[in-house]
Amino acid sequence: MKVIQYGVGDLGQTAIRLMAKKGYEVVAAIGRKRFLNEDIGDISGLGRKLGVKVTGDAESVLGKVEADVVCHMTVTDFEEVYREIMPCVEAGLNVVSISEELSYPWDTHTRLAREMDKKAKSRRVTVVGTGMSPGWEHDLLPLTVASACARVDSMKVMRVSDWSHQARSRGDVRFGRSLPDFEAGVRNGQIPLHAGFPEGLHMVATALGWKLDSIIDWWEPLVSKSLRQGPVYTIKAGQTCGFKHVSIGLIDGEAKLTFGLTGVANPVPEEDGEMGTFIEIAGEPNITVKEAGSDVPLGTVARAVNSLKAGVEARPGLLSVLDLPVAPPLPDRSHV
Ligand SMILES: NC(=O)c1ccc[n+]([C@@H]2O[C@H](COP(=O)([O-])OP(=O)(O)OC[C@H]3O[C@@H](n4cnc5c(N)ncnc54)[C@H](OP(=O)(O)O)[C@@H]3O)[C@@H](O)[C@H]2O)c1
Repeated sequence: MKVIQYGVGDLGQTAIRLMAKKGYEVVAAIGRKRFLNEDIGDISGLGRKLGVKVTGDAESVLGKVEADVVCHMTVTDFEEVYREIMPCVEAGLNVVSISEELSYPWDTHTRLAREMDKKAKSRRVTVVGTGMSPGWEHDLLPLTVASACARVDSMKVMRVSDWSHQARSRGDVRFGRSLPDFEAGVRNGQIPLHAGFPEGLHMVATALGWKLDSIIDWWEPLVSKSLRQGPVYTIKAGQTCGFKHVSIGLIDGEAKLTFGLTGVANPVPEEDGEMGTFIEIAGEPNITVKEAGSDVPLGTVARAVNSLKAGVEARPGLLSVLDLPVAPPLPDRSHV
């Protein structure tokens, strides 16, 4: 399988390492400002060169370098992602992306989603968004559980996860802030909450045959009671060590779907409780499932890399993870 890696940030580099292990051939890599002209083996810490240099000129690659699929790992925003992905589609390339807003943009970006779907069908390629959330823990996983129910009345999926990796790359924004600072940051849009809940809520609602009337959001900062020392950051007691974001999908005023994400830097069990995803389905029967042990950055990359083959083989159009078969990892082919 020949892959073009689009985006060589933290997750793009992890994808390069994972694809090297699985025996996928990365034939080109597209960056923006960082790592231009550097070998992707060097930047991803493989310890050996792969003979492919990062280019900032997507046009020099798309349609010019022979490939089966683009592994897209840049940004969240659908309009930006649309501008990056449409030339890939135009060039006849399948795309597997981790953009949260691409996961199910039908209700949130209807016009552009339809255009992308039309273009993908006309070029006979697949575009699909995957990842951990959206892409697995708040949608595919609970829906798989719900497939053992005769009826679902409501669903609640709450994730509490270690976000030390986020604190490392974006620590100046969400972590180590004073409470008023954090609250002002969320209100003025400087501090992002979890992306992709609207798309995930609509995806799950549609799968259950529901149409949400509205979505309400609720958030709060988490304040550390202790000193948290990360590799490149320090969070003092009284500063923010995380956040909780809850998004609720309503029908006739009733909370039908509740998604929550708590992201904590350097979790302290006595302060932050148990890590994991807690799924509660009310219906016939009621089912409760706890998933523990998944790793958000690695899981996101694994979901994408494991889905590359399925993305190439799927029917053309703009699809969601619900359209792809289950894609467990292939065995490693090399020990890098
Ligand atoms: N679905 C999920 O579960 C999930 C989970 C986690 C993350 N994500 C998504 O994954 C994305 C990447 O995460 P990350 O941790 O790797 O972020 P990151 O370290 O910030 O890397 C993103 C990279 O994309 C590059 N980029 C942005 N726009 C580009 C463009 N037009 N052309 C080429 N390169 C471009 C940036 O280049 P420069 O540095 O040169 O500007 C940066 O290197 C996030 O933004 C988020 O949308 C999804």
